[in-house]
Formats: sequence, C-alpha cells, structure tokens
Amino acid sequence: MGTLDGKVALVSGSGRGIGREIALKLAGEGARVVVNDLDDGPAEETAALIRGAGGQACVCAGSVIEADFAQRYVDTAIEAYGGLDIIVNNAVYTWDNVIQKMSDEQWDAMLAVHLTAPFRILRAASGFIREAAKTEAAQGREVFRKVVNISSTSGVMGNAGQANYAAAKAGVNGLTRALAKEWGRYKVNVNSVAFGLIRTRLTESAADDDASLDIAGRRIKVGVNPEVLKNAERLVPIGRAGTPAEAAGAVYLFCLPESNYVSGQVLVVGGGRP
Ligand SMILES: NC(=O)c1ccc[n+]([C@@H]2O[C@H](COP(=O)([O-])OP(=O)(O)OC[C@H]3O[C@@H](n4cnc5c(N)ncnc54)[C@H](O)[C@@H]3O)[C@@H](O)[C@H]2O)c1
Repeated sequence: MGTLDGKVALVSGSGRGIGREIALKLAGEGARVVVNDLDDGPAEETAALIRGAGGQACVCAGSVIEADFAQRYVDTAIEAYGGLDIIVNNAVYTWDNVIQKMSDEQWDAMLAVHLTAPFRILRAASGFIREAAKTEAAQGREVFRKVVNISSTSGVMGNAGQANYAAAKAGVNGLTRALAKEWGRYKVNVNSVAFGLIRTRLTESAADDDASLDIAGRRIKVGVNPEVLKNAERLVPIGRAGTPAEAAGAVYLFCLPESNYVSGQVLVVGGGRP
C-alpha cells in the first residue's frame, strides 16, 4: 500500500532532473503518472523506470509552451487513467543574462515557460476539477487534490543575472496564492516549492557542453559558472547542494493527505538558506 494509491499525477518536465525524481517518488507511492518532457526519449526513460519498479506511467511529450499542450496533457490523464489528482508544474529551462544584455525574446521566453505554461495547464484542468468536486460534494465526500508549482529562491529573494527567471518564479508564487483562494472550495491545495541550489543539469558547471537544450530550433545553454556554483554552495547551512531526490521529497510532502489543510504556501527548500 502506497500513500498515493489510486491517484493520478501530471509532472511536467519529468524526463530528467528534479521532475524525474518527483515522478519516481509519486509513482513509488502508488500514483499513476503522466510523464512529460520536450522529447519522447527522456520522457520514455522515466516511464520505463517507473514501470520497471512496478508502477504505472504514460507519456505526453511536447513543449509546455505550445498553445494546445495544456488541454492535451490534461486529456491524456483523464483518458489513460480516468482522473486527475496531482499537478506538478516543473518543466523549465533558464536563459540568464544581466538586464542590459537581456533581449525581449529572452524575457518573454522565461515568462512563457515558467508562468504562462502552468497557468494554462491549471486552467485546462479546471473543468474536470470543478465537476469532480461538485459530484464529490453532492455525495458528501471531501476529496483533496494537489497542485505543486515549482518555484525558486530566485523568485523569493532575487538573483543577479536572472531578472526574467526571478520575475517569472515570483509570478508563480502569486499564481499559487490566488488559486489557493479560488480553488479552496473545490478542496484543492495549491502550494509552491521554492528550491535553492539543487544539483541538476540546470546548475551543473556551465563549462559542460551537454548543458544545453533545443527550444523551438534555438540552442540554449543552461548551467552556472563553476566559481559562482562553489560560492553558492558555501552559503548553504547544510554545507552542500541538495539532491534531486531531496527536492522531490519536499514536493511529496504537499501531495500527502497529511497536508490537506495546508494551502497557498511557498515552501523554501534551500538546505537552511532562506
Ligand atoms: N536545480 C536547481 O538548483 C533549481 C533551483 C531552483 C528551482 N529549480 C526548479 O526546479 C525545476 C526543475 O529543474 P531541474 O533543475 O530539474 O532542471 P533540468 O533541466 O534538470 O530539468 C528540467 C526538465 O524540463 C524539461 N523542459 C524544459 N523546457 C520544457 C518545455 N518547454 N516543455 C517540456 N519540458 C521542458 C527539460 O527538457 C528537462 O528535462 C524547475 O522548475 C526549476 O526552475 C531548480
């Protein structure tokens, strides 16, 4: 028996990094997971890992910023598993620069992937959620659903070179707080998890050539300057960057029935760094 038996979860950007660990954790606790990433390859790998461990998963590949993606993602869960209980908005990339060198395209791209995409996924899910909640209420049942929006300490306290990312992640926290109020009546807990430094491709040394990705035909380098990375790690009270599994653990807390009365919160997960 898992703590999430029978639940259906969307985890965007779960082909690698923190998203993959979230998908594995939720599936390991019994949830059926709709895995997403830009391409089939990494998404199928995550789904195969889940199935290999005895869990259930299917794949809905594609970019979360495509206009028709949100509805397709929600429909996949309902068609494949007949429901929708957990939505984790995780998929992103970064495109850093100091403000004088930041183009409109760079700014807009970050708002699109970090903020507009979660908004669209949640809006697409709203029809199913409202209908399900009304039916459950008429039956005298309270069924809690969970939204976990992935944010960042950049969105809470800012970060030099990331005006676009920080603004979008702060926006995600606003979306979280507004929707917690709007969807409380439907018994949906809406929370944000704001990570500090977690070891993934996003924070690997920028010297690593693999740390780049193709978005709409454009090659975008992700990663952090090695010196900046070392300094950032020194500032973490626990003394090191977090692992993707540790990051996933924090998301899992918000998916548990024990957190049913916790909503509209931004949980900073930074190894003791605020
Ligand atoms: N790693 C950190 O230190 C850190 C810190 C703060 C917040 N975060 C947040 O954690 C989340 C996960 O980041 P990560 O470190 O695991 O990054 P990652 O690059 O390892 O994984 C992100 C995944 O999202 C996918 N993706 C990117 N754009 C996409 C799109 N348009 N559509 C679908 N999939 C897309 C990527 O292909 C990748 O598989 C993000 O929301 C990020 O902002 C990470």
